[in-house]
Amino acid sequence: MPKKRNRRQAGLLIQQKETMPFASKGANELYIVDRNALEARACSPNCSLPRPFLRWAGSKRRLLSQIIPLMPSQFHAYYEPFLGSGALFFLLCPERAWLSDKCGNLIDAYKMLKYNVSSIIRYLRPLRPSRNLFYTFRSQPSRGKLKRVAEFMYLNKTCWNGLYRVNSKGHFNVPYGLPSSKIIADFDNLRACSRALRKSGIRLQSCDFDEALTGVQANDFVYLDPPYFTRHNRSFIDYNETLFSWQDQMRLAKRAQELANTGAYVIVTNANNREVRRLYKGFKHKTIARSSTLASDSACRGQVTETVLYSPNCKTEMMGDKAYDAGGNNEQE
Ligand SMILES: C[S@@+](CC[C@H](N)C(=O)[O-])C[C@H]1O[C@@H](n2cnc3c(N)ncnc32)[C@H](O)[C@@H]1O
Repeated sequence: MPKKRNRRQAGLLIQQKETMPFASKGANELYIVDRNALEARACSPNCSLPRPFLRWAGSKRRLLSQIIPLMPSQFHAYYEPFLGSGALFFLLCPERAWLSDKCGNLIDAYKMLKYNVSSIIRYLRPLRPSRNLFYTFRSQPSRGKLKRVAEFMYLNKTCWNGLYRVNSKGHFNVPYGLPSSKIIADFDNLRACSRALRKSGIRLQSCDFDEALTGVQANDFVYLDPPYFTRHNRSFIDYNETLFSWQDQMRLAKRAQELANTGAYVIVTNANNREVRRLYKGFKHKTIARSSTLASDSACRGQVTETVLYSPNCKTEMMGDKAYDAGGNNEQE
C-alpha cells in the first residue's frame, strides 16, 4: 500500500513542481527560456501548477506549445496587456511581469487572489454548482470586494462557456452553463497562482493596452493577444467587435512596431486574416490551428486557424517550418 502523504509533504511536492527552472536568470539579468521544459509543461496542461484559474474566451492554453518555439530565447521583463486568463504568464512564471487588462473585475480577481487566497478558498469551499445560486450571485452580488471576487470566480466556473459579457449597465449577463464538474475551483492551483502573482516583480493594472506598454524597454518580451478581428458582428461572441474596433487593431499594430523598433521582442496572436497581417509590416508570421470552442452548437465547433506574428528579433526555433513576412510580397494566404 502506498504511504499516505501528510499535508505538509504534499504541499512541498507541489512547490517543487512549480519551482522547476523553466526560465532561469542569466549572468546579464536576462531570463533564459528553457523551451524543452516549457513544452513539456504546455503539453500536460492539467498536470502542472500553476495554470489559469479562470475560463476565458480566447484563452491560449491549448495553443501554448505552438507559441513557445516562436518565443525569444531570453528576455528581461514580461508584458501581457491583454491578460484574460493569463495562459502564457502562468506557463512562464517570470519574476518580473507587467500584467494588465481593460476588464476591471478581472484584474480585481488577480489582485485579490494575490493577497487573500485563503479567504477566497474559505468562501468557495462549501459552494457547489447550482442554477439558483448562480442567478442569486449574478443579480445580487454580495457586499465587500472579497466576496464579490469569489462570486466572480463562481460565475466564471458555472456560466456558459466561461464567457465574460456585461450589459450596457456593466452587469454580468451570461446564462448558467450546466457545468459538468462539481468542483468550483482547484484550491491547490489557486494557491500556486497566488504564489506566482506574489513574486516581488509582478505588477497588476486595469487599463488600456497603450498605457500598459509605456515602460517597455529593449530585451523585454511583450505578448499581445487582443480580441480577434472579425468581420461578422452579429453573433453572440462578437461583442468583441464593439470593444475592440478596427481602429484599435491599427493602434495596436503601430504600437507593436514601435516596441519592436526599440528592441523589445513582440509576439502577437490574432485571426488568420490578410488585412490583419498587412498591419504588421516587417513582422514574420506563422499560421497555427486549434479547435474552436465558442460556437453555441457543439456540432459547429471545428478547426480554426489563427496567426502568430512575431518581430524578427525573436530568435525562433522553428524546425523546418516556413515563416512568412507579414504584409510583404511573399504573403501566405
Ligand atoms: C483574447 S483575450 C486574452 C486571452 C488571454 N491571452 C488568455 O490566455 O486567456 C483578450 C483580452 O483583451 C482584453 N481587452 C479588450 N480590449 C482591451 C484594451 N483596449 N486594452 C487592454 N485589454 C483589452 C479583454 O478584456 C480580454 O481579456
